[in-house]
Amino acid sequence: MEKAGLLPLRFVEESGTLLLIDQRKLPFQEEWFDATAFDDLLFSIKEMVVRGAPSIGVVAGYGHALNIARRVRQGASLQVIEADLESLLATRPTAVNLQYGARQVHKAFLQAFQEKSDSAAAALVEAHRLYQEVLDANYQLSRHGLSIVPKGASILTHCNAGPLAACGYGTALGVIRAAHYAGLEPQVFADETRPRNQGRLTAFELQREDIPVTLVCESMSGFLMKCGKIDLVVTGADRIALNGDSANKIGTYNLAVLASFHKIPFFIAAPLSTFDRVTTSGEAIPIEFRAEEEVLTFDGARHAPPGVKAINPSFDVTPSELISGIITEKGILRAPFEESIAAALFC
Ligand code: MRU
Repeated sequence: MEKAGLLPLRFVEESGTLLLIDQRKLPFQEEWFDATAFDDLLFSIKEMVVRGAPSIGVVAGYGHALNIARRVRQGASLQVIEADLESLLATRPTAVNLQYGARQVHKAFLQAFQEKSDSAAAALVEAHRLYQEVLDANYQLSRHGLSIVPKGASILTHCNAGPLAACGYGTALGVIRAAHYAGLEPQVFADETRPRNQGRLTAFELQREDIPVTLVCESMSGFLMKCGKIDLVVTGADRIALNGDSANKIGTYNLAVLASFHKIPFFIAAPLSTFDRVTTSGEAIPIEFRAEEEVLTFDGARHAPPGVKAINPSFDVTPSELISGIITEKGILRAPFEESIAAALFC
């Protein structure tokens, strides 16, 4: 019997409350963070109470809609609402879903505002629609992904692209979950993914469903590939350019290079909302640099000698020539990516 994944948010319609499962505290504590107030929303995205590109997008949509309702009640001007939107967009620069979610809600708001109808209600309707779009996309892309998973495959994944991050069935983990429930008996190696260790969330999500998972440090991936232990690599993405270059958690590029050397298929799984509809190549994707403290500490405890410096690029870009295919809700896109992506996005 298929288990439901743990979703990252609860929206309480009657009170207009936005609750987020605090992903910083999982897997040990299940605590809910109230992100209804605008400052708390900004904090929750910046500090990764909520994380993962599709989840950030859905939360940004609800958060912007709630803030619009508040501002409309206060009689605030359009300029004030748009300044808030800019603050929201600045919280995390790489995941394009944040832009997508917030801007779609803003578009719905503006249209109703110009038509002098209930603009706060229109914004909330769009936030609900976006959530449903993400749920559907997760599910559909996971089904499409079944075709690339051989029976008994040993799959390496990086970071966390399950229900918590993808706000639905999962993207990379959605493909793995679908394969598990289809009886394909996949086994998973989950990269720990320093410095934020999102691989622990992957291990947690897979373990809840009795999907065999082994946690590894990312430095072990070359060894595992060389020993013939990996049949397939599948990861999520945070932003995909029109030529297929894909930004994902730092270390994904290393895996793609290793997979290419070892002739192992390397797939990205992402909904169409993760595609950047104007950026033509990965060179133009903004990379978030986070605080060096995240590298100098482990779970909040300092482990580096005092005075040592660190850098913390949070994402890297995998060039499309290293990608075997991108699994989306419209099927698996393959090279030439300019053509397959354009057809999926614009036709
Ligand atoms: O910094 P994070 O934890 O938000 O980064 C998340 C990732 O890189 C995920 O792999 C990506 O968002 C895909 S989520 C389905």
